[in-house]
Amino acid sequence: MNHLISTADLSRDDALLILDTAEEMAQVSTRAVKKLPTLRGRTVVNLFFEDSTRTRTSFEVAEKRLSADVINFSAKGSSVSKGETLKDTALTLQAMGADAVVIRHHASGAPKRLAESSWLHGSVVNAGDGTHEHPTQALLDAFTMRRHLNPGRDGSARGRDLDGRRITIVGDVLHSRVARSNVRLLHTLGAQVTLVAPPTLMPFGVESWPCEVSYDLDAALPKSDAVMMLRVQRERMNAAFFPTHREYSRRYGLDVARAATLPEHAVVMHPGPMVRGMEIASEIADSARSTIVEQVANGVSVRMAVLYLLLGGMTTTTPTEEQSK
Ligand code: NCD
Repeated sequence: MNHLISTADLSRDDALLILDTAEEMAQVSTRAVKKLPTLRGRTVVNLFFEDSTRTRTSFEVAEKRLSADVINFSAKGSSVSKGETLKDTALTLQAMGADAVVIRHHASGAPKRLAESSWLHGSVVNAGDGTHEHPTQALLDAFTMRRHLNPGRDGSARGRDLDGRRITIVGDVLHSRVARSNVRLLHTLGAQVTLVAPPTLMPFGVESWPCEVSYDLDAALPKSDAVMMLRVQRERMNAAFFPTHREYSRRYGLDVARAATLPEHAVVMHPGPMVRGMEIASEIADSARSTIVEQVANGVSVRMAVLYLLLGGMTTTTPTEEQSK
């Protein structure tokens, strides 16, 4: 595999290899010296055409922990705001010797275009394209779920999948690349996914996705091992999709009373950024069953694993053996 564009491209074995490698990377992150030499001398460009807090900083930390040379490029403040095309931007990065490009773009399909083009020779990692996919987010979510919902006897999640686990994804599914990537990956890992949204925020053609669809959050919660709340993505809306904030929150928000109907072991997830009081109550976001901050930490391990496997890791040594070299 040269690129990571969509979770649909990952077989069960590919996904487990990434998740197991991320478990090793997580160990590296607990050490005093949190660095591996794997990508020494390699250049990774973070090409962000859309705003980002978590994804961008997480990729940067991951790249630095692998000793890569990191270049951060954002559309604001670059020649993109002067009208430069993706092609010319890519040719420029190629001329500078980029070995990998991590791209976030408002246009669905931009990372695929880049990966299939002759403009760039390096690996392309999709960090979120329009309403299409966000594969590293889905991988970090699966990593987090696996640790909580299917650990082995020794507490390690290595080699384990999510067979039969029931995951409910709630909110603005229509505009969510996180939901799309999660549905595909979770299905590959054996989980049963239910999407819950107002009818206006459920994508056209959702019947063909490998998941259940429901409009009733109260019915779905008691049957969930994990519930993932999504932000209402106002920046992608050009019309009114629900009457008022209050109405949305009352029917689709995870408040204290609703969260109490979850099974005791169930976890509450959110990819961030969250709108507290809208899709999730602050008490629940900050509660013991919330994995929101843990998801951010796991994002670094998963992104290290992806870059390691794409750029340098297909060797016989494990990342930890390499550190002691
Ligand atoms: C999401 C995104 O950008 O797709 N956030 C993230 O990457 N953690 C979801 C969102 O913006 O609501």
